[in-house]
Amino acid sequence: MSESTEHAGVSVGESVTEDATPQEAYAGSPDSATPVRLRGVLAQMPDYKPGKPAAAPAGVTAYKLSSNENPYGPLPSVLAAIDDAAATVNRYPDMAVTALTARLARALDVPAECIATGTGSVAVLTQIVNAACDAGDEVVFAWRSFEAYPIVTQLAGAKPVMVGLDEQARHRLDAMFAAITDRTRVVLVCTPNNPTGPCVHQAELEAFLDKVPSDVVVVVDEAYVEFVRDPDAVRGLDVWRHRPNVVVLRTFSKAYGLAGLRVGYAVAHPPVAAALRKTATPFGVNSVAQVAAIASLDAFDELNARVESLVAERDRVVQALADQGWTLPRSDANFVWFPLGAESSAFSAACADAGLTVRQYGDDGVRVTIGETEANSRLVEVAARFGAR
Ligand SMILES: Cc1ncc(COP(=O)(O)O)c(C=O)c1O
Repeated sequence: MSESTEHAGVSVGESVTEDATPQEAYAGSPDSATPVRLRGVLAQMPDYKPGKPAAAPAGVTAYKLSSNENPYGPLPSVLAAIDDAAATVNRYPDMAVTALTARLARALDVPAECIATGTGSVAVLTQIVNAACDAGDEVVFAWRSFEAYPIVTQLAGAKPVMVGLDEQARHRLDAMFAAITDRTRVVLVCTPNNPTGPCVHQAELEAFLDKVPSDVVVVVDEAYVEFVRDPDAVRGLDVWRHRPNVVVLRTFSKAYGLAGLRVGYAVAHPPVAAALRKTATPFGVNSVAQVAAIASLDAFDELNARVESLVAERDRVVQALADQGWTLPRSDANFVWFPLGAESSAFSAACADAGLTVRQYGDDGVRVTIGETEANSRLVEVAARFGAR
């Protein structure tokens, strides 16, 4: 045993007991009973459910269309940057994320002090809610929307106030305004909305923001902004520039294809951005993620060509489904929503039989990511066999 692998008499990789399995060696209680006092809110919170991995019957290629991931692997230039950065992972990353922040500032034409990063935009969202909410405060958002919203809210000790979507699966901003009370600290606007697809429009958001109290943070979650083609859609940064209470949330996980590296950011006015840095996990955005995100911004044209092809695939799928007679909400993201109600399980099972892993939301509907061309074509076939609704 070399000295460097020795720690407290146990070498790395060596088990303390000789013959026991880890389960036998574990002295704790196997059930959920514990004398430890945990926060009561945890028992009421749903677990975050990640998209299931791909699975398929024998002989069929499996496709994972359940997490809105980008089907393309990293570009060679991004892979080379990752490779180089891997050689220095014995060091902590730059905690201030200086180079990526400067590169983002240049790309977005905003001051660097207005950018706050985190380990994926879901972490930045957590930073926002933790920065704005004390126990008992309220966070207003549409429902259904991104399933992390109620979890992040409850973990902060705040109360989720969920406002139903309209019949086109769009935000009802009037109803969301009516839901604002003197306890409201944050409003989340998801555009395009995950999992249903439509965008909020610029004019309706501006009218909403004219009425919302200026001390309430309004988050414009633009995780899928690169896929938007609706000419009336919100342009978050334009809104942000003249609204001190607006925060724009973006991610490298979707269009940029870096979901596995966990990096996202907010554009916020300086006092809010500073608060988001205070509530971040120190050294959260790792050094490999930082250089990969910079390399991706440098390769924007190549990545954008991929986004264009995914948008073309989305349009092809949407047109094929419309030709079959399906009436689905408009999607401006990299997924389509089947609002199937009680038939959601049957559709999800039909997709699974064809080797497509999709995302079912109880009895609300099924969300299917636009992925590889073959996977998309198979979805169209499954939908044809299932019959249009
Ligand atoms: C609307 C929305 N916001 C934020 C996120 C979080 O993405 P990430 O944490 O990978 O940046 C997602 C991921 O699915 C999303 O759909």
